[in-house]
Amino acid sequence: MNRKFHITTFGCQMNEHDSEVMAGMLLEKGFEAAGDRKEADILIINTCSVRDNADKRFFGTLGALKKRKKDNPDLIMCVCGCMMQQQHVIDTLKQKYPWVDVVFGTHNIHQFPALLENVINERKKQISVWPDGGEIVEGLPVKRLHDNKALVNIMFGCNNFCTYCIVPYTRGRERSRHPEDILKEVRGLVADGVKEIMLLGQNVNSYKGAEGVDFADLIYMLNEVEGLERIRFMTSHPKDLSDKLIQAFVDCDKLCKNIHLPVQSGSSRILKEMNRKYTKEQYLELVRKLKEAVPHITMSTDIIVGFPGETEEDFEETLDLVRQVRYDSAFTFLYSIRKGTPAEKYENQVPEEVKHERFNRLVDLVNTISAEKNALYKGTVQKVLVEGSSARNSKTLAGRTDGFKLVNFHGCREMIGRTIDVEITEGKTFSLEGKVVE
Ligand code: 5AD
Ligand code: SF4
Repeated sequence: MNRKFHITTFGCQMNEHDSEVMAGMLLEKGFEAAGDRKEADILIINTCSVRDNADKRFFGTLGALKKRKKDNPDLIMCVCGCMMQQQHVIDTLKQKYPWVDVVFGTHNIHQFPALLENVINERKKQISVWPDGGEIVEGLPVKRLHDNKALVNIMFGCNNFCTYCIVPYTRGRERSRHPEDILKEVRGLVADGVKEIMLLGQNVNSYKGAEGVDFADLIYMLNEVEGLERIRFMTSHPKDLSDKLIQAFVDCDKLCKNIHLPVQSGSSRILKEMNRKYTKEQYLELVRKLKEAVPHITMSTDIIVGFPGETEEDFEETLDLVRQVRYDSAFTFLYSIRKGTPAEKYENQVPEEVKHERFNRLVDLVNTISAEKNALYKGTVQKVLVEGSSARNSKTLAGRTDGFKLVNFHGCREMIGRTIDVEITEGKTFSLEGKVVE
């Protein structure tokens, strides 16, 4: 009987895609995917270090699996992802979780099958974490989570060193894929039925392909791929958002009119402390330009509440910015100290209760605006790319508008993968309800 694997993924879409690659490699080697963790004899945890309490959640999950390993010594326990790029995590694993079999990092995912086979054949623990990325490994197999949309890495790593962020230390320096490699992958995906691609990178607009191809050029190139319907990207840094990219929104019909543009704070003083390299005014100017060029563009953002030294006045600047931009949605984070980042050493940490109180006020504002914006869709007809049935009810289909709004509506499974007209009957805070236009 073939061994079955199960992957638990924490964190961002980069991690989600890394897990798709790991699944692809294991399937190619003849392993089988297990329906759930209980069925599996190879367990993989792909970790994240950005999110709040990441360490605690990871070690909690791992601790809970110790008994499984004890009851079944043949179970193979693998851990990988961003947390493995931090020495203190490796030290803890060695000291407290010696029963973990395979440890690898973000830069050597391609070695996973070989490490796994070593464990199986030699019954010897495998720890291999590369400190930084070497050459980009092309052509790894991928087992996609979705049939009609796909995640496509275009660049890896980050050179920005925002003072709160661990990513530059866990994902290394920026490296971009060759445009031809990306195009080849996308053409292959389209041939396989993919309609929508999400271009991924920690900072996609600092993409630098061969022969001077920048991010906007890449969009223009992908816009020509026949059969591809939608192009999205994630995440962009405001400091690198060029006029050329704004123009691409106007010129490229496949580029969805939606942008995730993390602002982090509305206070220019805090932005400086964060090393974000733009002011509140510069950010608002970018938003103005985007809205002028693409009037119906939808926008989302990331905001950190309670960065060290954030005063009530600073926080009110954030609220003011949110009121001015009127985001369609926002991911809000309580600042949390990341070991090894400059902000770890900042002395004026904001007390927990103050952080929480501000966080709640921000979430209330963000949600009110989301609900108001979504209500405006009532009565309109939207083109929805149908992604699948909703998690709760199989007759309810779910899809996204060009502007990334989630739409739920009744329909039949044959609609999955198609772009159909849906009349919006209700706008809620986080989604739209609709009915199919006959
Ligand atoms: N604390 C809170 N939020 C953080 N983020 C990154 N690092 C931290 C941290 N130390 C948030 C940022 C980033 C998103 C992916 O995670 O808002 O854009
Ligand atoms: Fe982290 Fe800043 Fe790089 Fe984004 S741009 S990954 S927040 S360091």
